Amino acid sequence: MTDQYAVVGNPIEHSKSPLIHAAFAAATGQDLEYAKICAPLDDFAGCVEGFRLMGGKGLNVTVPFKLEAFRLATKLTERARSAEAVNTLKFDGDEILGDNTDGEGLVQDILGGCDFTIEGRRVLVLGAGGATQGILLPLIAQRPAALMVVNRTAAKADALKAHVVDHFAIDTGGFEAIEGREFDLVINATSASLSATALPIAQDNFASGSLAYDLAYGNEETVFMRQARVCGAAQVADGLGMLVGQAAESFYLWRGVRPQTAAVIEQLRQQQS
Ligand code: ATR
Repeated sequence: MTDQYAVVGNPIEHSKSPLIHAAFAAATGQDLEYAKICAPLDDFAGCVEGFRLMGGKGLNVTVPFKLEAFRLATKLTERARSAEAVNTLKFDGDEILGDNTDGEGLVQDILGGCDFTIEGRRVLVLGAGGATQGILLPLIAQRPAALMVVNRTAAKADALKAHVVDHFAIDTGGFEAIEGREFDLVINATSASLSATALPIAQDNFASGSLAYDLAYGNEETVFMRQARVCGAAQVADGLGMLVGQAAESFYLWRGVRPQTAAVIEQLRQQQS
């Protein structure tokens, strides 16, 4: 029987995951079907259980269920534990493995899609919400020279320090803490792009040759991408590559095969334009 997978969220209509996974399956010759499921807001667990009992092999989990998926998992990867959120479930007998592939998806897109090395670089992350928590461990695994997290509410950035990272010294603070400080990689993990709000970043935050990466994506450049360009970032990128990257990492967890991402990113770009 063809193995069954799906993405679960609410709403889920606009999810690109079925298209991405269908493309991966075709490219790697894997026999699987991938659907989308809109779970009731008050019964995510029941929805997952129904899918599992029907013989489903795995699920991607999106807004607003990543925390519930974290709680539902009977076993967690280290990166899911650090993120305190789960975007990938894998069913194996009675075991429900919870993983978080968002951070690795980002890292792989920066390394491969942007051709930019993180090791030895000065990295700045803007924002201290769930998105930031999800990417810290994979970023640290790349051994940057320094990692700073700033947030509109400084206390939330400070809390990440104690909470998430106990084996790497991250620097935290409010946006004023980056005044006059230069970085090689600036990642926007705030939700400011969704409301098209400008962030308090300046020219002297961007080192020569720097990359500015927005986790958000859309049909046009985000406000952060435009700001970063004006501030002198050598390269700007949106989060479409991360979306495909996290899917590739989920696919690898489920199937043991790592799909190529470039052609799928290109396909999605063309659909947007
Ligand atoms: P997500 O899961 O997308 O990370 P979240 O946990 O609600 O969502 O976090 C949103 C992040 O975007 C927070 O860091 C938030 O800053 P505060 O903690 O101060 O609220 C940040 N954010 C949202 N709008 C912003 C804005 N206009 N300017 C700066 N930061 C903003």
